[in-house]
Amino acid sequence: MKPPPTGLPEHEARRLLQLATGLDAAGLGLLDALTPEQSTRFEGYVDRRLAGEPLQYIEGTVPFGPVEVKVDPRVLIPRPETEVLWERAVCALGTADDSTVIVDLGTGSGALALSLKHAFPAARVYATDIDPDALALARENVEQAGVSVLRGDLFDALPFGMRGHVDLLISNPPYVAEADELPAEVREREPARALFAGPNGDEILVRIAQQAFYWVKPGGWVFIEIGETQADRALELFADFQCVVYQDLAGRPRILAGYRGETSCVEGTR
Ligand SMILES: C[S@@+](CC[C@H](N)C(=O)[O-])C[C@H]1O[C@@H](n2cnc3c(N)ncnc32)[C@H](O)[C@@H]1O
Repeated sequence: MKPPPTGLPEHEARRLLQLATGLDAAGLGLLDALTPEQSTRFEGYVDRRLAGEPLQYIEGTVPFGPVEVKVDPRVLIPRPETEVLWERAVCALGTADDSTVIVDLGTGSGALALSLKHAFPAARVYATDIDPDALALARENVEQAGVSVLRGDLFDALPFGMRGHVDLLISNPPYVAEADELPAEVREREPARALFAGPNGDEILVRIAQQAFYWVKPGGWVFIEIGETQADRALELFADFQCVVYQDLAGRPRILAGYRGETSCVEGTR
C-alpha cells in the first residue's frame, strides 16, 4: 500500500509505515489496509516527525558501513561522511592482529568503534567519550562486540601506558563554531556537546593535534573528520604527521589522514 497523505515526503512516510507495521518494502507492497493499532502507531510517528524529530531517532537505529547502531537524542546521528572516514581508515590500516590498538575519541553512538571492530576483529578497540549519557548508549552498541568503553576528556580517558602504542587514532570530534548556522532539526534535536567545539569551531581539533603525536605510534595513523572550511587549519595543526585531506561523497574536503613517520620523538624536544 502507498502511505496515506501525511505532509511528509513519501519516502519518509514509507519508512514510518514500515516501522508501524514491522514490514519491509516488499511486505508493504502486499498490504491492503492498516489495522487500528498500526494506524495509531503510524500517526504517532508522523506527528513526532512533523514536530521536527529526526527520522533516525524515531526509527531508533541507523545503518553505518557494515553495522547497525541504536541512536536516540543522547547521541549524534552518524552521517554518510563518517562512513567515508571509516572506509579510508580501514584502507590505510590494512590489517590488524591482537597487538593492534585502535582508539575512537568521542565515540557518540559507537558507530566508528563498532565498524572498526567489525573490520578488524582481532584488534583492541577503545571507544571514548566525555558524555556519560552518550557512553551509556555506546555501551549497548559496542560492548557485546568486545569494544572497550572509556569515559574522559579526550586523551584523559586512555590509560597512560597506551601512549606511543596507538596504531589508529580516529575521531569525528565536534567541529562547529558556536555562531555557525545549522538546520534547526540538527541544532535543536542533536546533542550540543556533539556539535559545537567553541567560538572558533577548531578548539577540539587543536586539543587533539596537541597530543596525537605522543599517542600514535611510529608507523601509525590519525584519521579525523573536519568541517569543510578547516582543511588548511587541520594540515597546519597536524604538521607532525604526513597528511592528506580526502573529500567526502559531495566532494568537500572533510577527512584528514595523517601518517606518523617511523622515527620516534621525545616529548618536549620536538
Ligand atoms: C560529532 S560527535 C561524533 C559521534 C560519533 N563518533 C559519530 O561519528 O557519529 C562528537 C562526540 O564527541 C564527544 N565529545 C565532545 N567533547 C569531548 C571531549 N572533550 N572528550 C571526549 N569526547 C567528547 C561528544 O559527546 C560526542 O559524542
